[in-house]
Amino acid sequence: MTTQGAAQSPPILELREVSKTFGRLQVLNRLSFSLREAEVLGILGPNGAGKTTLLNLIAGDMAVASGQIRFRGQDVTAESAPQRCHRGIARTFQIPRPFVGMTVFENVLVGAAYGSGARRHDRDSVNLCREVLEQTGLMDQSGALAGNVGLLDRKRLELARALATRPALLLLDEIAGGLTEPEVRALLAVIAEIRARGIAIIWIEHLVHALVSSVDRILAINFGVKLAEGLPHEILASREFQEIYLGVGEH
Ligand SMILES: Nc1ncnc2c1ncn2[C@@H]1O[C@H](COP(=O)(O)OP(=O)(O)OP(=O)(O)O)[C@@H](O)[C@H]1O
Ligand SMILES: [Mg+2]
Repeated sequence: MTTQGAAQSPPILELREVSKTFGRLQVLNRLSFSLREAEVLGILGPNGAGKTTLLNLIAGDMAVASGQIRFRGQDVTAESAPQRCHRGIARTFQIPRPFVGMTVFENVLVGAAYGSGARRHDRDSVNLCREVLEQTGLMDQSGALAGNVGLLDRKRLELARALATRPALLLLDEIAGGLTEPEVRALLAVIAEIRARGIAIIWIEHLVHALVSSVDRILAINFGVKLAEGLPHEILASREFQEIYLGVGEH
């Protein structure tokens, strides 16, 4: 969103000098950025740059070494992944992780139960699952075993499970990776619809053209530090981007 109203709204997410180490490996180094309500931020960076680690820290799947993560003005740095999910943060995994022995519908129902903290499913969560299956184009696969569906549908299922938790912030980790060009287009249409509902998105993707055409802003990272942040066309034209993606200036 690029309207003035959005520019004035408080951030939905704020990272303040967040660092992460694995033993002696410094994976993220004092990274700071923020995201507005309903904004879509793309994250670019080469393999091993720290992108998935960043999502793990925001979702609460890993603890920070130092720094602070704030969601809608609250410090959530010490909160668990379920607590953050209940606040409205949901994620997909780079490698889809469905419960393979359950149906597509049951997988989405697990997402709905996880998001609401309920132990049993009720009519509301069943209706929510139907809505989410419709939205992600999975309705005709509803009864299929999740282990038997193709890659595009597994990616759709990652989205559906996350959406069933009713997120305000959705974290996407290479959701379009490994898909054919027509499949990528199908998934981009689903994400555009999610976005139109006002859900903020942080979206990691190596498919630069897909990202650039779909996001409000891009953050480029390498070796866990911010290289550049700005409008997609500014980032594409930046020296930092050209160096890491096109090898310009390297000898
Ligand atoms: N649990 C872990 N334990 C130790 N090292 C890890 C762990 N997770 C990630 N790393 C290391 O941290 C660095 C960043 O990994 P990360 O998965 O965040 O990169 P990425 O930017 O998502 O890469 P890719 O584009 O390949 O998915 C890599 O050097 C990786 O080997
Ligand atoms: Mg990754």
